[in-house]
Amino acid sequence: MRRLLSSMASSSRIVFSQTERAPGVINFAIGTPGPDLIPKKAIDAAFTSAISENQDPLMYQYALSEGTSPFRKSLAKFLTEQNFSYEGGAVQEENLSATFGNSLGLVTVSKLFAKPGDIVVVEDPTYFLAGKMFQDQGLRCVRVGVDEHGLKVDDLEGWLSSTTVRPSLLYSIPRHHNPTSRCLSQDRGDKLIALAEKYGFKIVFDDPYSLLTYSQNVAPPQTRITEHVISLGSFSKILTPGLRLGWMIGGPKTIEKIGTDGALNSGGGPAGVLTEAVRRLIDNGSLNLHLEMLRKELGERHKVLEQAFEEEFGPGVASCRPALGGYFTYASFKEASVTPGFTTAGLRQHCVDTNAGVLFMPVANCAVADPIAEGEGGFGLVPGLVRAR
Ligand SMILES: Cc1ncc(COP(=O)(O)O)c(C=O)c1O
Repeated sequence: MRRLLSSMASSSRIVFSQTERAPGVINFAIGTPGPDLIPKKAIDAAFTSAISENQDPLMYQYALSEGTSPFRKSLAKFLTEQNFSYEGGAVQEENLSATFGNSLGLVTVSKLFAKPGDIVVVEDPTYFLAGKMFQDQGLRCVRVGVDEHGLKVDDLEGWLSSTTVRPSLLYSIPRHHNPTSRCLSQDRGDKLIALAEKYGFKIVFDDPYSLLTYSQNVAPPQTRITEHVISLGSFSKILTPGLRLGWMIGGPKTIEKIGTDGALNSGGGPAGVLTEAVRRLIDNGSLNLHLEMLRKELGERHKVLEQAFEEEFGPGVASCRPALGGYFTYASFKEASVTPGFTTAGLRQHCVDTNAGVLFMPVANCAVADPIAEGEGGFGLVPGLVRAR
């Protein structure tokens, strides 16, 4: 597992970079809008108006680390209209902190709510860089499986009731999961919060895909957010990753604690010009219009992909899960029947099918190293209890 992660660490730079990639290679390995799905005109117009109409020099100053009040007010209204809530009511300005995207939001949260050596519970499989981000901070991961309805909360409960080990954090991608595309059910979400209250850990929902539901077969986002939950959202997936802007929703105490982070205090939050431009995209309705188009387009592209799988491989060879939203299509292959190039070590490590000019993400790369299950932690756990796949 260690070897796998270090090979991923070097290859992930290739996988992630959209600016350095070889021309003509289609990158299915990460969730990001294609070049034709980036609302360039609306973004250009928002920056132009932010700069030409707003003469306030404070926009160019160090900002409050949480982001400006006008930005957070607009964002709170937008998120509430999109079905997000805090403790059952509207999301308020004081429930929000601007971030530089979910990746850095996650780093800040794990720095402030856990310390080196602490345990973080992580879904298996999960976002292929999540484990690396936790391990870089000295956190140890425990895996819990996912199925049709998201994280297997009963397995988590079984483990928690059988051990004295207490996690500080639980990391979950609740909607249109990367890579499985599944959504956490309402029942499991509620039970998870009850477990967090009972066992005293913080739930970190890495939730960049909730706003991209395109199927009628799934309820709109209703993720419950309480003082035990921090929900991370990002403009990377709904506008473009190059903005490096996101948000976290949490209880007032949580948001206050985020504001004490040294680096955020020193540098301030995301650039004032950026948050002012995005505020304008929210307030003038451009973001909503773009979201409508994006959901429709992603739904149609998923159908094309599903059909292509069927035509190329046939139903006996590959099965493609019907996705409900987001960017991920999860396909399973019968090992014996895939093309030889598909299984080479190089392909698995670097996720590049050079013949087809396609990058994809093998699920084997989406498992975090779990020192406890692998017998390195000495916590006296029953090995295998939380390894359910
Ligand atoms: C689950 C998950 N979290 C975080 C990220 C990165 O988000 P951001 O661009 O907001 O840092 C990704 C990108 O693929 C992702 O899939």
